Amino acid sequence: MNQLGTGIAITGSGSAASEVTLDNHQLSQIVDTSDEWITSRTGIQKRHLMDAQGSLSEMAATAAHSAIAMAGIAPEDLDLIILATSTPDDLFGSANQVQAHLGASKAVAFDITAACSGFVFGLATASQFIRTGLYQNVLLIGADILSRWVDWSDRSTCVLFGDGAGAVVLQANQSDRLLGFALCSDGTQNSCLQLAYEPQDQEIVKGLTVAKGTYQPITMSGKEVYRFAVQKVPEVIEKALFRADITTEQVDWLVLHQANQRILDAVAQRLNIPKHKVLSNLAQYGNTSAASIPIVLDEAVRLEKIKSGDIIVTSGFGAGLTWGAAVFKWGR
Ligand code: COA
Repeated sequence: MNQLGTGIAITGSGSAASEVTLDNHQLSQIVDTSDEWITSRTGIQKRHLMDAQGSLSEMAATAAHSAIAMAGIAPEDLDLIILATSTPDDLFGSANQVQAHLGASKAVAFDITAACSGFVFGLATASQFIRTGLYQNVLLIGADILSRWVDWSDRSTCVLFGDGAGAVVLQANQSDRLLGFALCSDGTQNSCLQLAYEPQDQEIVKGLTVAKGTYQPITMSGKEVYRFAVQKVPEVIEKALFRADITTEQVDWLVLHQANQRILDAVAQRLNIPKHKVLSNLAQYGNTSAASIPIVLDEAVRLEKIKSGDIIVTSGFGAGLTWGAAVFKWGR
C-alpha cells in the first residue's frame, strides 16, 4: 500500500503529564476499592491528574515542543497539526490553541475524535497528507484529560483513567517507514463505552424547546470492552502486518493502547509476541486515552530502548467502538 506516493518517517516524539498523581491507596479513600484489586485486575498503581485550571492545549503543546525538537525542526516548519482528543478545552476544537501556543504560524490545525484509537486514526490521517505530496511536516498529538469526565464515585471506571499528552512528528522522507495500517469501527456497540451527550429541555420561546448541552460522565461495560479488545486487537494487528508485509517475528516492539495490563498480556500471547517486546507504563499512568501510545512510545525512545529502524506495531482501541493498528519503522 506504500508504493504510491511520498515516503513517510516518524522522526520525533514527546510527552507531558501533570506532576500531580493519585495512587491506588488514595483512591481507596474515595471509593470502595483497594490497591490489591486495582493492581491485580489492571496493573495500574497511580495516574497523573491535571488540576482544575489545567489546559489540554498547553499540555499538548508541551509534548509537541519535545517532539519538534527531537525531529530537528522549528514550529514554523509545521504544515499541519492534528490533535486527537475526546476532551478538548473547546468543543469547537483545541488544535488551533496548540498552534498558537507553539507559534506554528504556517500550520493548519484541526482535532479528530476517535477516543482511545485517536492516535492510530491520527497516524493514518496525517499520513494521507504527506503521501499525496501536499504537506512535508505534520505534528500529531494525542492528548486527553479524562479526569474531567470520570464519575469519581464509580469504582468500576474511576480507577482506570489518567491524564496526559504525547506527540510525534511525521515527515516526508526518501525511504518509506510507515509500512501499513488498518482501521475499524463498530457503532452498534457504541453503548459499551460512552461519554454521552444528555440533553436538557430549554424552552426559548413558548412552544419551542431546544436542548441545553451537557455531557454525562463516562459509562462503561468493562467485561464487554475487555472481550472486544482481546478479540479484535490481534485481528487488526494481523491485518496491518499483512498489509505491511511484516511477520510477527520481525516485530521489535508491540506498542498497545495502555488500557489494562491483562489486555496487553492477552493480545501479546495471542500474537505470540514475547513479553520483553511489549511496552507498558500502565503502572505509572493508567489509561490516558489518545495519549497513551505516544507517551509510552516517547519513554522508550528516550530510554533508547527503541532505536532507529526498529519495527513497531501499534494498536489503539476503545470507545466508538473503534480500533486500529499501524506498522512503522522508527526514525528516518
Ligand atoms: N474495586 C473493587 N471492586 C471492584 C472495582 C474496584 N475498583 N470495580 C469493580 N469491582 C467489583 C465489581 O463490582 C464486581 O463485584 P461483584 O462481583 O460483587 O458484582 C467485581 O469487582 C468483579 O467485577 P468485574 O467487572 O467482573 O471485574 P473484571 O475482572 O472484569 O475487571 C475491569 C473489571 C474494568 C478491570 C475489566 O473488565 C476491564 O479492564 N475491562 C476493560 C476496560 C477498559 O480497558 N476500558 C477502556 C478501554 S479503552
